[in-house]
Amino acid sequence: MAENCSEWSIDEIRREFPLLQNTDYAYLDNAATSQKPKVVLDAVRDFYETKNANPFRGLYPLSEAATEAYEDARRTVKEFIHAKSTEEIIFTRNASESLNLVAYSLGSILLEPGDEIVVSIAEHHSNMLPWRQAADRAGAKVVYLECGGDGSFTEEGLLSVLGERTKLVAMTQVSNVFGRENDIRRFAKVCHERGIVFVADGAQSVPHMAVDVQDLDVDFLAFSGHKMLAPDGIGVLYGKKKWLKKMPPFLSGGEMIESVTRDRVIYAELPHKFEAGTVNAGGAVGLAEAIRYMQQLGLDWIEERERAVTSLAYSRMKKIPGVHILGSENPDEHHGILTFTVDGVHPHDVSEILSASKIAVRAGHHCAQPLMQQLHVGSTTRASLMFYNTEEEVIRFTDALGAVRREMGYGE
Ligand code: ALA
Repeated sequence: MAENCSEWSIDEIRREFPLLQNTDYAYLDNAATSQKPKVVLDAVRDFYETKNANPFRGLYPLSEAATEAYEDARRTVKEFIHAKSTEEIIFTRNASESLNLVAYSLGSILLEPGDEIVVSIAEHHSNMLPWRQAADRAGAKVVYLECGGDGSFTEEGLLSVLGERTKLVAMTQVSNVFGRENDIRRFAKVCHERGIVFVADGAQSVPHMAVDVQDLDVDFLAFSGHKMLAPDGIGVLYGKKKWLKKMPPFLSGGEMIESVTRDRVIYAELPHKFEAGTVNAGGAVGLAEAIRYMQQLGLDWIEERERAVTSLAYSRMKKIPGVHILGSENPDEHHGILTFTVDGVHPHDVSEILSASKIAVRAGHHCAQPLMQQLHVGSTTRASLMFYNTEEEVIRFTDALGAVRREMGYGE
Protein backbone atom coordinates (compact mmCIF):
# COMPACT_ATOMS: atom_id res chain seq x y z
CA MET A 1 0.00 0.00 0.00
CA ALA A 2 1.19 3.54 -0.71
CA GLU A 3 2.10 5.72 2.27
CA ASN A 4 -0.65 8.25 1.80
CA CYS A 5 -4.28 7.25 1.51
CA SER A 6 -4.98 9.93 -1.09
CA GLU A 7 -2.78 7.84 -3.42
CA TRP A 8 -4.78 4.65 -2.89
CA SER A 9 -7.44 3.71 -5.37
CA ILE A 10 -10.55 1.87 -4.14
CA ASP A 11 -9.22 -1.20 -6.00
CA GLU A 12 -5.99 -1.01 -3.99
CA ILE A 13 -7.97 -0.67 -0.77
CA ARG A 14 -10.19 -3.61 -1.68
CA ARG A 15 -7.11 -5.75 -2.30
CA GLU A 16 -6.33 -5.30 1.41
CA PHE A 17 -9.56 -7.16 2.28
CA PRO A 18 -9.22 -10.90 1.55
CA LEU A 19 -12.93 -11.62 1.79
CA LEU A 20 -13.74 -8.99 -0.82
CA GLN A 21 -11.35 -10.83 -3.14
CA ASN A 22 -12.87 -14.20 -2.28
CA THR A 23 -16.50 -13.40 -3.01
CA ASP A 24 -18.39 -12.34 -6.10
CA TYR A 25 -21.05 -10.74 -3.88
CA ALA A 26 -21.45 -7.00 -3.52
CA TYR A 27 -21.30 -6.92 0.28
CA LEU A 28 -23.81 -4.26 1.35
CA ASP A 29 -24.46 -5.44 4.91
CA ASN A 30 -21.76 -3.42 6.63
CA ALA A 31 -24.01 -2.06 9.37
CA ALA A 32 -24.38 -5.67 10.54
CA THR A 33 -20.64 -6.33 10.39
CA SER A 34 -17.68 -5.08 8.40
CA GLN A 35 -15.02 -7.01 6.49
CA LYS A 36 -11.47 -7.18 7.88
CA PRO A 37 -8.27 -5.96 6.22
CA LYS A 38 -5.11 -8.08 6.08
CA VAL A 39 -3.31 -5.82 8.55
CA VAL A 40 -5.91 -6.67 11.21
CA LEU A 41 -5.84 -10.41 10.44
CA ASP A 42 -2.02 -10.31 10.48
CA ALA A 43 -1.92 -8.41 13.78
CA VAL A 44 -4.19 -10.98 15.45
CA ARG A 45 -2.16 -13.86 14.01
CA ASP A 46 1.09 -12.19 15.13
CA PHE A 47 -0.30 -11.79 18.65
CA TYR A 48 -1.12 -15.49 18.88
CA GLU A 49 2.14 -16.53 17.22
CA THR A 50 4.48 -14.35 19.26
CA LYS A 51 2.83 -12.92 22.39
CA ASN A 52 0.06 -15.23 23.52
CA ALA A 53 -0.13 -15.90 27.24
CA ASN A 54 -2.71 -14.91 29.82
CA PRO A 55 -2.37 -11.12 30.36
CA PHE A 56 -1.85 -9.79 33.92
CA ARG A 57 -1.23 -13.20 35.46
CA GLY A 58 2.25 -14.37 34.54
CA LEU A 59 5.57 -12.98 35.78
CA TYR A 60 7.40 -14.09 32.65
CA PRO A 61 8.10 -12.28 29.39
CA LEU A 62 5.30 -13.79 27.28
CA SER A 63 2.60 -12.81 29.75
CA GLU A 64 4.17 -9.37 30.12
CA ALA A 65 4.17 -8.98 26.32
CA ALA A 66 0.49 -9.98 26.18
CA THR A 67 -0.33 -7.48 28.95
CA GLU A 68 1.60 -4.76 27.14
CA ALA A 69 -0.17 -5.51 23.81
CA TYR A 70 -3.56 -5.38 25.53
CA GLU A 71 -2.82 -2.13 27.37
CA ASP A 72 -1.32 -0.62 24.22
CA ALA A 73 -4.64 -1.36 22.50
CA ARG A 74 -6.44 0.45 25.32
CA ARG A 75 -4.20 3.51 24.79
CA THR A 76 -4.97 3.41 21.05
CA VAL A 77 -8.72 3.37 21.73
CA LYS A 78 -8.38 6.17 24.28
CA GLU A 79 -6.55 8.39 21.77
CA PHE A 80 -8.97 7.47 18.98
CA ILE A 81 -12.08 8.65 20.82
CA HIS A 82 -10.21 11.37 22.75
CA ALA A 83 -10.99 10.08 26.22
CA LYS A 84 -9.21 11.76 29.13
CA SER A 85 -7.73 8.57 30.53
CA THR A 86 -7.25 4.87 29.79
CA GLU A 87 -9.18 4.24 33.03
CA GLU A 88 -12.26 5.33 31.09
CA ILE A 89 -11.87 2.60 28.44
CA ILE A 90 -13.43 -0.75 29.34
CA PHE A 91 -13.04 -3.65 26.93
CA THR A 92 -16.19 -5.73 26.52
CA ARG A 93 -17.46 -8.23 23.94
CA ASN A 94 -19.46 -5.71 21.93
CA ALA A 95 -21.73 -2.65 22.18
CA SER A 96 -24.57 -4.79 23.57
CA GLU A 97 -22.43 -5.95 26.47
CA SER A 98 -21.20 -2.39 27.06
CA LEU A 99 -24.76 -1.10 27.30
CA ASN A 100 -25.82 -3.99 29.53
CA LEU A 101 -22.90 -3.15 31.80
CA VAL A 102 -23.96 0.48 32.23
CA ALA A 103 -27.64 -0.32 32.60
CA TYR A 104 -27.00 -2.99 35.23
CA SER A 105 -24.25 -1.29 37.17
CA LEU A 106 -25.16 2.39 36.95
CA GLY A 107 -28.83 1.47 37.17
CA SER A 108 -28.19 -0.18 40.54
CA ILE A 109 -26.86 3.04 42.09
CA LEU A 110 -28.80 5.67 40.13
CA LEU A 111 -32.38 4.48 39.92
CA GLU A 112 -35.04 4.53 42.59
CA PRO A 113 -38.70 3.54 42.47
CA GLY A 114 -40.67 6.07 40.44
CA ASP A 115 -37.65 7.33 38.47
CA GLU A 116 -37.78 7.63 34.69
CA ILE A 117 -35.37 6.63 31.93
CA VAL A 118 -35.89 8.25 28.53
CA VAL A 119 -35.05 5.98 25.59
CA SER A 120 -35.39 7.05 21.98
CA ILE A 121 -37.84 4.96 19.98
CA ALA A 122 -35.17 4.54 17.27
CA GLU A 123 -32.84 2.56 19.52
CA HIS A 124 -31.46 -0.82 18.61
CA HIS A 125 -32.76 -3.36 21.14
CA SER A 126 -29.25 -3.24 22.69
CA ASN A 127 -29.87 0.30 23.92
CA MET A 128 -33.47 -0.34 24.89
CA LEU A 129 -33.88 -3.74 26.53
CA PRO A 130 -31.09 -3.25 29.13
CA TRP A 131 -32.85 -0.05 30.24
CA ARG A 132 -36.21 -1.80 30.44
CA GLN A 133 -34.63 -4.46 32.62
CA ALA A 134 -32.90 -1.84 34.78
CA ALA A 135 -36.23 -0.02 35.16
CA ASP A 136 -37.97 -3.26 36.15
CA ARG A 137 -35.30 -4.03 38.77
CA ALA A 138 -35.54 -0.55 40.30
CA GLY A 139 -39.30 -0.02 40.02
CA ALA A 140 -38.56 2.79 37.57
CA LYS A 141 -40.22 3.51 34.25
CA VAL A 142 -39.05 3.80 30.63
CA VAL A 143 -40.43 6.78 28.71
CA TYR A 144 -40.02 6.80 24.92
CA LEU A 145 -38.81 9.78 22.95
CA GLU A 146 -40.65 9.76 19.62
CA CYS A 147 -38.98 10.69 16.33
CA GLY A 148 -40.35 12.53 13.34
CA GLY A 149 -41.25 10.63 10.15
CA ASP A 150 -37.77 11.46 8.85
CA GLY A 151 -36.16 9.86 11.90
CA SER A 152 -35.19 13.18 13.48
CA PHE A 153 -35.24 14.10 17.16
CA THR A 154 -35.61 17.68 18.35
CA GLU A 155 -34.63 19.51 21.50
CA GLU A 156 -38.29 20.45 22.01
CA GLY A 157 -39.25 16.78 21.76
CA LEU A 158 -36.61 15.86 24.31
CA LEU A 159 -37.68 18.65 26.68
CA SER A 160 -41.27 17.47 26.46
CA VAL A 161 -40.38 14.05 27.93
CA LEU A 162 -37.86 15.15 30.57
CA GLY A 163 -39.39 15.40 34.00
CA GLU A 164 -38.50 15.81 37.65
CA ARG A 165 -37.87 12.06 37.89
CA THR A 166 -35.78 11.63 34.71
CA LYS A 167 -32.41 10.18 35.69
CA LEU A 168 -31.00 9.11 32.36
CA VAL A 169 -31.40 9.46 28.58
CA ALA A 170 -30.24 6.73 26.18
CA MET A 171 -29.84 7.58 22.50
CA THR A 172 -27.90 6.36 19.52
CA GLN A 173 -25.49 8.69 17.74
CA VAL A 174 -26.38 7.18 14.33
CA SER A 175 -29.52 5.09 13.85
CA ASN A 176 -28.98 1.59 12.44
CA VAL A 177 -32.29 1.98 10.56
CA PHE A 178 -32.30 5.60 9.34
CA GLY A 179 -28.54 6.19 9.24
CA ARG A 180 -29.35 9.61 10.62
CA GLU A 181 -26.96 11.30 13.02
CA ASN A 182 -28.52 12.67 16.18
CA ASP A 183 -27.10 15.85 17.66
CA ILE A 184 -26.01 14.06 20.82
CA ARG A 185 -23.71 16.93 21.86
CA ARG A 186 -26.74 19.21 22.14
CA PHE A 187 -28.95 16.57 23.75
CA ALA A 188 -26.25 15.68 26.30
CA LYS A 189 -25.96 19.39 27.19
CA VAL A 190 -29.72 19.66 27.70
CA CYS A 191 -29.55 16.62 29.98
CA HIS A 192 -26.55 17.81 31.97
CA GLU A 193 -28.20 21.18 32.65
CA ARG A 194 -30.83 19.14 34.49
CA GLY A 195 -28.47 16.69 36.19
CA ILE A 196 -29.48 13.85 33.85
CA VAL A 197 -26.98 11.19 32.67
CA PHE A 198 -26.59 10.77 28.88
CA VAL A 199 -25.69 7.37 27.40
CA ALA A 200 -24.84 7.15 23.68
CA ASP A 201 -24.74 4.11 21.42
CA GLY A 202 -21.84 4.64 19.02
CA ALA A 203 -22.08 1.28 17.21
CA GLN A 204 -23.03 2.92 13.89
CA SER A 205 -21.06 6.16 14.30
CA VAL A 206 -17.57 5.28 15.57
CA PRO A 207 -16.81 3.14 12.48
CA HIS A 208 -17.74 5.96 10.10
CA MET A 209 -16.83 9.37 11.51
CA ALA A 210 -14.43 11.10 13.90
CA VAL A 211 -15.85 10.86 17.43
CA ASP A 212 -14.52 12.91 20.34
CA VAL A 213 -16.12 11.95 23.65
CA GLN A 214 -14.85 15.06 25.44
CA ASP A 215 -16.30 17.31 22.78
CA LEU A 216 -19.62 15.43 22.76
CA ASP A 217 -19.51 15.37 26.57
CA VAL A 218 -21.58 12.19 26.76
CA ASP A 219 -21.33 10.24 30.02
CA PHE A 220 -21.03 6.87 28.27
CA LEU A 221 -20.41 5.70 24.71
CA ALA A 222 -20.62 2.06 23.58
CA PHE A 223 -19.31 0.54 20.35
CA SER A 224 -18.31 -2.77 18.76
CA GLY A 225 -15.04 -3.70 17.07
CA HIS A 226 -16.58 -5.99 14.46
CA LYS A 227 -18.40 -3.12 12.74
CA MET A 228 -15.11 -1.20 12.36
CA LEU A 229 -12.80 -3.71 10.63
CA ALA A 230 -11.82 -5.49 13.87
CA PRO A 231 -12.53 -9.10 14.93
CA ASP A 232 -15.76 -10.27 16.54
CA GLY A 233 -15.93 -10.40 20.31
CA ILE A 234 -14.23 -7.13 21.21
CA GLY A 235 -16.14 -3.99 22.11
CA VAL A 236 -15.68 -0.85 24.14
CA LEU A 237 -17.46 1.02 26.86
CA TYR A 238 -16.24 4.57 27.37
CA GLY A 239 -17.45 6.05 30.63
CA LYS A 240 -16.63 9.20 32.56
CA LYS A 241 -14.39 8.30 35.46
CA LYS A 242 -16.68 10.03 37.96
CA TRP A 243 -19.37 7.44 37.15
CA LEU A 244 -17.17 4.38 36.63
CA LYS A 245 -15.51 4.90 40.02
CA LYS A 246 -18.86 4.78 41.81
CA MET A 247 -20.32 1.89 39.83
CA PRO A 248 -20.20 -1.69 41.17
CA PRO A 249 -18.79 -4.47 38.95
CA PHE A 250 -21.09 -6.00 36.36
CA LEU A 251 -19.37 -9.39 36.10
CA SER A 252 -17.29 -10.91 38.89
CA GLY A 253 -14.38 -13.33 38.70
CA GLY A 254 -10.69 -13.43 37.95
CA GLU A 255 -8.44 -10.36 37.85
CA MET A 256 -11.09 -7.81 38.82
CA ILE A 257 -10.15 -7.71 42.49
CA GLU A 258 -7.47 -6.21 44.70
CA SER A 259 -8.00 -8.78 47.46
CA VAL A 260 -10.57 -11.32 48.61
CA THR A 261 -11.09 -12.89 52.04
CA ARG A 262 -13.93 -15.18 53.08
CA ASP A 263 -16.06 -12.18 54.02
CA ARG A 264 -14.64 -9.22 52.17
CA VAL A 265 -13.64 -8.18 48.68
CA ILE A 266 -11.79 -5.09 47.51
CA TYR A 267 -12.25 -4.56 43.80
CA ALA A 268 -9.42 -3.65 41.43
CA GLU A 269 -8.89 -0.12 40.20
CA LEU A 270 -10.36 1.08 36.92
CA PRO A 271 -10.62 -0.22 34.29
CA HIS A 272 -9.93 -3.76 35.57
CA LYS A 273 -12.88 -3.71 37.97
CA PHE A 274 -15.09 -4.18 34.90
CA GLU A 275 -13.00 -6.79 33.07
CA ALA A 276 -13.60 -10.08 34.88
CA GLY A 277 -12.01 -13.27 33.57
CA THR A 278 -9.41 -13.77 30.87
CA VAL A 279 -9.57 -10.77 28.57
CA ASN A 280 -9.76 -10.86 24.77
CA ALA A 281 -6.22 -9.63 24.14
CA GLY A 282 -6.13 -10.91 20.55
CA GLY A 283 -9.35 -9.03 19.82
CA ALA A 284 -8.06 -5.85 21.45
CA VAL A 285 -4.86 -6.05 19.37
CA GLY A 286 -7.01 -6.46 16.24
CA LEU A 287 -9.14 -3.48 17.23
CA ALA A 288 -6.07 -1.29 17.73
CA GLU A 289 -4.77 -2.29 14.30
CA ALA A 290 -8.18 -1.56 12.76
CA ILE A 291 -8.08 1.90 14.34
CA ARG A 292 -4.60 2.55 12.95
CA TYR A 293 -5.81 1.46 9.51
CA MET A 294 -8.83 3.78 9.70
CA GLN A 295 -6.57 6.62 10.83
CA GLN A 296 -4.28 5.98 7.86
CA LEU A 297 -7.26 6.26 5.54
CA GLY A 298 -8.43 9.30 7.49
CA LEU A 299 -11.79 9.54 9.23
CA ASP A 300 -12.73 12.54 7.12
CA TRP A 301 -11.86 10.63 3.96
CA ILE A 302 -13.94 7.64 5.15
CA GLU A 303 -16.94 9.87 5.83
CA GLU A 304 -16.60 11.64 2.49
CA ARG A 305 -16.18 8.41 0.54
CA GLU A 306 -19.21 6.82 2.21
CA ARG A 307 -21.22 9.97 1.59
CA ALA A 308 -20.42 9.72 -2.14
CA VAL A 309 -21.45 6.06 -2.57
CA THR A 310 -24.53 6.54 -0.36
CA SER A 311 -25.60 9.55 -2.38
CA LEU A 312 -25.25 7.59 -5.63
CA ALA A 313 -27.29 4.70 -4.21
CA TYR A 314 -29.92 7.08 -2.82
CA SER A 315 -30.44 8.97 -6.08
CA ARG A 316 -30.72 5.74 -8.11
CA MET A 317 -33.10 4.11 -5.58
CA LYS A 318 -35.35 7.18 -5.59
CA LYS A 319 -35.96 6.64 -9.32
CA ILE A 320 -37.23 3.07 -8.87
CA PRO A 321 -41.05 2.89 -8.82
CA GLY A 322 -42.43 1.25 -5.66
CA VAL A 323 -39.22 1.66 -3.62
CA HIS A 324 -39.50 3.83 -0.49
CA ILE A 325 -36.47 4.82 1.59
CA LEU A 326 -37.01 5.37 5.31
CA GLY A 327 -35.74 8.55 6.95
CA SER A 328 -34.41 11.78 5.60
CA GLU A 329 -34.87 13.05 2.04
CA ASN A 330 -31.29 14.27 2.21
CA PRO A 331 -28.84 11.50 1.23
CA ASP A 332 -26.14 13.13 3.35
CA GLU A 333 -28.25 12.26 6.40
CA HIS A 334 -28.01 8.52 5.78
CA HIS A 335 -24.39 7.77 6.75
CA GLY A 336 -24.15 4.68 4.56
CA ILE A 337 -27.54 3.26 5.63
CA LEU A 338 -30.45 2.96 3.22
CA THR A 339 -33.42 1.09 4.70
CA PHE A 340 -36.33 0.65 2.35
CA THR A 341 -39.55 -1.10 1.46
CA VAL A 342 -40.70 -2.34 -1.94
CA ASP A 343 -44.43 -2.12 -2.62
CA GLY A 344 -46.06 -5.54 -2.56
CA VAL A 345 -42.84 -7.48 -1.95
CA HIS A 346 -41.82 -8.90 1.42
CA PRO A 347 -38.32 -7.83 2.51
CA HIS A 348 -37.22 -11.47 2.71
CA ASP A 349 -38.16 -11.88 -0.96
CA VAL A 350 -36.37 -8.63 -1.80
CA SER A 351 -33.26 -9.92 -0.06
CA GLU A 352 -33.43 -13.33 -1.77
CA ILE A 353 -33.94 -11.80 -5.20
CA LEU A 354 -30.98 -9.48 -4.59
CA SER A 355 -28.94 -12.43 -3.36
CA ALA A 356 -29.62 -14.25 -6.63
CA SER A 357 -27.91 -11.25 -8.27
CA LYS A 358 -25.02 -11.65 -5.78
CA ILE A 359 -25.92 -8.72 -3.57
CA ALA A 360 -25.88 -9.11 0.22
CA VAL A 361 -28.28 -6.91 2.22
CA ARG A 362 -30.13 -7.37 5.51
CA ALA A 363 -33.89 -7.96 5.72
CA GLY A 364 -35.96 -7.97 8.88
CA HIS A 365 -36.65 -5.68 11.81
CA HIS A 366 -32.96 -4.76 12.33
CA CYS A 367 -33.30 -5.33 16.10
CA ALA A 368 -35.49 -2.24 16.28
CA GLN A 369 -39.00 -3.67 16.49
CA PRO A 370 -40.65 -0.80 18.43
CA LEU A 371 -39.40 1.58 15.72
CA MET A 372 -40.78 -0.68 12.98
CA GLN A 373 -44.12 -0.68 14.84
CA GLN A 374 -44.11 3.13 15.03
CA LEU A 375 -43.37 3.32 11.30
CA HIS A 376 -46.13 0.74 10.61
CA VAL A 377 -43.77 -1.56 8.75
CA GLY A 378 -43.37 -5.17 9.86
CA SER A 379 -39.92 -5.37 8.42
CA THR A 380 -37.73 -3.70 5.82
CA THR A 381 -34.65 -4.28 3.71
CA ARG A 382 -31.40 -2.46 4.46
CA ALA A 383 -28.39 -1.79 2.27
CA SER A 384 -25.44 -0.46 4.27
CA LEU A 385 -22.29 0.83 2.65
CA MET A 386 -18.67 1.13 3.69
CA PHE A 387 -15.79 3.08 2.15
CA TYR A 388 -14.65 -0.03 0.25
CA ASN A 389 -17.91 -0.36 -1.67
CA THR A 390 -17.62 0.72 -5.29
CA GLU A 391 -19.84 2.73 -7.59
CA GLU A 392 -20.07 -0.39 -9.76
CA GLU A 393 -21.50 -2.34 -6.79
CA VAL A 394 -24.04 0.39 -6.17
CA ILE A 395 -25.12 0.28 -9.79
CA ARG A 396 -25.40 -3.53 -9.69
CA PHE A 397 -27.50 -3.24 -6.52
CA THR A 398 -29.85 -0.58 -7.83
CA ASP A 399 -30.24 -2.33 -11.21
CA ALA A 400 -31.16 -5.56 -9.40
CA LEU A 401 -33.51 -3.66 -7.07
CA GLY A 402 -35.19 -2.09 -10.08
CA ALA A 403 -36.01 -5.58 -11.35
CA VAL A 404 -37.46 -6.93 -8.06
CA ARG A 405 -41.09 -5.96 -8.63
CA ARG A 406 -40.96 -7.27 -12.21
CA GLU A 407 -39.59 -10.59 -10.96
CA MET A 408 -42.49 -10.79 -8.50
CA GLY A 409 -44.93 -10.42 -11.41
CA TYR A 410 -45.78 -6.71 -11.06
CA GLY A 411 -45.77 -4.44 -14.10
CA GLU A 412 -43.59 -1.31 -14.22
N1 ALA B 1 -26.64 -4.22 15.06
C1 ALA B 1 -26.43 -4.80 13.79
C2 ALA B 1 -27.40 -4.31 12.75
O1 ALA B 1 -28.03 -3.33 12.91
C3 ALA B 1 -26.36 -6.27 13.84
O2 ALA B 1 -27.53 -4.96 11.73
